[in-house]
Amino acid sequence: MALLYSLGVSLALVAVISAAASPGKGAKKGISSLFKKKTNPYTVRRAFIDPVYKKQVNSSIASASAGERAALTELLTTPTAVWLSTKADVQRNRKSRIAKALKQASRWKNPPMVTLIVYNLPNRDCAAESSAGEFCCSPNKNGTCNFLDGSTMCEDGLRRYQNEYIKPLLKFVREYRKIVPMSFVVEPDSLPNLVTNLENPKCGNKATNSSYMNGIKFAVNSLSEACPHCPLYLDAAHGGWLGWEDSSVGFVKLLKKLRIVRKLRGFAINVSNYQEMGVICPEVGFCLDGANPDHECCKIDSCGLLEKFNPGHTILNYAMSLKSYVESAIDGYEPKFIVDTSRNGAGDAREDCSVWCNVRSAALGEPFTTETANKTVFDAYLYIKPPGESDGCTEILPEGGKCPRFDSVCASDDSVGSKRGEPRAPEAGDWFDYMIKGIATN
Ligand SMILES: *[C@@H]1O[C@H](CO)[C@@H](O)[C@H](O)[C@H]1NC(C)=O
Ligand SMILES: *[C@@H]1O[C@H](CO)[C@@H](O)[C@H](O)[C@H]1NC(C)=O
Ligand SMILES: *[C@@H]1O[C@H](CO)[C@@H](O)[C@H](O)[C@H]1NC(C)=O
Ligand SMILES: *[C@@H]1O[C@H](CO)[C@@H](O)[C@H](O)[C@H]1NC(C)=O
Ligand SMILES: *[C@@H]1O[C@H](CO)[C@@H](O)[C@H](O)[C@H]1NC(C)=O
Repeated sequence: MALLYSLGVSLALVAVISAAASPGKGAKKGISSLFKKKTNPYTVRRAFIDPVYKKQVNSSIASASAGERAALTELLTTPTAVWLSTKADVQRNRKSRIAKALKQASRWKNPPMVTLIVYNLPNRDCAAESSAGEFCCSPNKNGTCNFLDGSTMCEDGLRRYQNEYIKPLLKFVREYRKIVPMSFVVEPDSLPNLVTNLENPKCGNKATNSSYMNGIKFAVNSLSEACPHCPLYLDAAHGGWLGWEDSSVGFVKLLKKLRIVRKLRGFAINVSNYQEMGVICPEVGFCLDGANPDHECCKIDSCGLLEKFNPGHTILNYAMSLKSYVESAIDGYEPKFIVDTSRNGAGDAREDCSVWCNVRSAALGEPFTTETANKTVFDAYLYIKPPGESDGCTEILPEGGKCPRFDSVCASDDSVGSKRGEPRAPEAGDWFDYMIKGIATN
């Protein structure tokens, strides 16, 4: 069994390597010299347009109205990130998510920048239900995680994360690092959960804490070693989550404890969320206490964060604010940011700004660009969450039957699927045809 398995693996490996071995000139020297510290890594090459995403979008075009079709057609050529959220996504076969993406990218004349989302910590998504982990610190008999068992340091879960997820991922990284530019967004929501959700016993216990702290440390250190020139961005949520001073400071404290800062190019913000971009203020905290109400940077605040004394009232201002906290705590470090703009195009039209699931009023934001509001701070805007993929299922699945990972936020009035006449939402990550048609035309 073991022998057969390893034989299968090495055959798949040969197949992948030979498929990747036809990349045009310059491959022998490799691309690492193109990525200098002072160079914005997203300006070196174009951004990857994902054929898997294209196929999903295309599947919605046939049944689209004329108005929807125009918007959907644009999505066929829009770069998106590639989520690696299961061990199957990094498996050494030609069909895994990462194998397909990197092989496709290696066939471009000058292979494009592929943004990969590393998202599979044990006890993942401790504060919600919709993306709960496939690895557990303490598994129930039916395979779900017993988040409330905080009796271990999550040794077993972390071992699986390293051996069944990160290490297979590293093999792909080593194989393609000289050919395909890669950038990584590390573990959305995880560290932010340890900042603000500790009172939730599923997040605040020893096991989940150890999983996130040790898992992120391992992921960052090993990715950085496997590909020193690949930029790493740690997820830093958004202003409505970590924008308050004590939360930003709490985040920076955890960051320092991890001792990984120098390996990070910076942070990814607004991943899978909807906060509006806004306009950068002349200084951090410029609008607080009712100051400068007529300045354009203070006028955009659709979630009412300023009156709650939050200087991160829009995406851009949150980044500038977090940057100042990080820089005052860590000497000589200047973080760079990438922003998920996939669904923040309409300003923030949610009735309840805490809703993160399949928001009906969402609209496409600015597609991939390196022409950002401040090029020394923001490397790129990119659709990190591919628009059209579900954030989580409604209580009843589209095909009937109870959704095993139902989160009550996905039943909010703001979420597609909650209104009479709307189709039910599929599980997180699955294609949601009805929702993309709405997003595309909003
Ligand atoms: C798009 O979908 C149509 C059917 O609706 C199919 O004929 C066509 O081959 C698809 N194109 C791509 C690029 O997948
Ligand atoms: C989480 O782990 C860190 C060490 O990595 C420790 O300093 C901290 O106290 C832990 N927090 C909780 C809530 O267990
Ligand atoms: C992302 O940006 C949009 C609009 O700018 C905003 O509505 C959303 O809350 C943000 N998402 C996150 C995770 O911050
Ligand atoms: C961009 O931000 C940096 C760092 O805060 C600042 O020094 C610089 O003046 C800004 N550039 C522009 C064009 O506003
Ligand atoms: C799995 O088992 C746990 C604990 O016995 C239970 O609470 C949970 O509802 C079960 N989940 C599913 C999807 O069966």
